[in-house]
Amino acid sequence: MQILSVEHLTKVYGQGDTAIRALDDVSFTVGAGEFIAIIGSSGSGKSTLLHLMGGVDRPTSGTVRVNGEDIFNRTDEELAVFRRREVGLVYQFYNLIPVLDVVENMTLPVQMDGRPVNERRLGYLLRTLGLSGREHHLPNQLSGGQQQRVAIGRALMNAPAIVLADEPTGNLDSKNSAEIMQLLSRSNKELGQTLVVITHDEDIALMADRVIAIEDGRIARDERRGAARRGDKAMRAAAQVRRTAATGAAKATGTAGGTGAPRPAGLGGAHFSASAATWTEVR
Ligand SMILES: Nc1ncnc2c1ncn2[C@@H]1O[C@H](COP(=O)(O)OP(=O)(O)OP(=O)(O)O)[C@@H](O)[C@H]1O
Ligand SMILES: [Mg+2]
Repeated sequence: MQILSVEHLTKVYGQGDTAIRALDDVSFTVGAGEFIAIIGSSGSGKSTLLHLMGGVDRPTSGTVRVNGEDIFNRTDEELAVFRRREVGLVYQFYNLIPVLDVVENMTLPVQMDGRPVNERRLGYLLRTLGLSGREHHLPNQLSGGQQQRVAIGRALMNAPAIVLADEPTGNLDSKNSAEIMQLLSRSNKELGQTLVVITHDEDIALMADRVIAIEDGRIARDERRGAARRGDKAMRAAAQVRRTAATGAAKATGTAGGTGAPRPAGLGGAHFSASAATWTEVR
């Protein structure tokens, strides 16, 4: 069953000589429960695509249908409700509210809807995301990786039908990155959630059912798992080379997992586990 369809989507930023065609006639459909990885070089249009799929921005032309309905037929207010209720969006740069603490940020979309907070789910997410003990910290009191995990928690608080995540592990070391992907893929499988993840990490792309490659605002490749698998060996070899290089760099500079960011004293070392409960228990 199809949950989402992207139809001839084009997004042009600016006008005249300085206009940038960030997306150029992109079309594809997404099946309910599918896990899609979107890959592509910097500036290729990945975030632009994800924002349009999540109704954060409006396209220059083309549309996005969710369950058959054109989301851009909605008013701005209706689109805001759509974003709060039907999608969970993890922004590349988190977009946390600086004056709200961890719990307030995570529960904001639910509170804005005037709905009660599911305390069991909140507790589960705080534990699973390694944020226990940080509930009342403000974003600027958290490490980059912790802020990223709050943004993921906020997207999952609603248990939305569609999760759109823009490089959700971009600021995490390889161990924490694997845990986050375990959480996302678990919620994809257990809740039947549709999951679209932008990533530069070959290991994450290998977990997906389907990989869509974007180049210069167009789809360069769209491979389902069977076809993607044929490239697995080469991708794994490349991932291994990167991991070895990253570990070497991390060892040499004393950074965590080669992310380039110094590990904050006493916080960054915290490892978390996604094995405590299952999603179905906290629905
Ligand atoms: N608000 C904006 N105004 C003008 N140009 C923009 C805007 N947002 C994005 N662009 C341009 O659109 C193109 C696509 O940007 P986008 O952020 O979608 O790339 P991306 O694939 O997500 O890159 P990255 O991997 O670096 O995050 C880029 O050339 C970018 O400079
Ligand atoms: Mg981006």
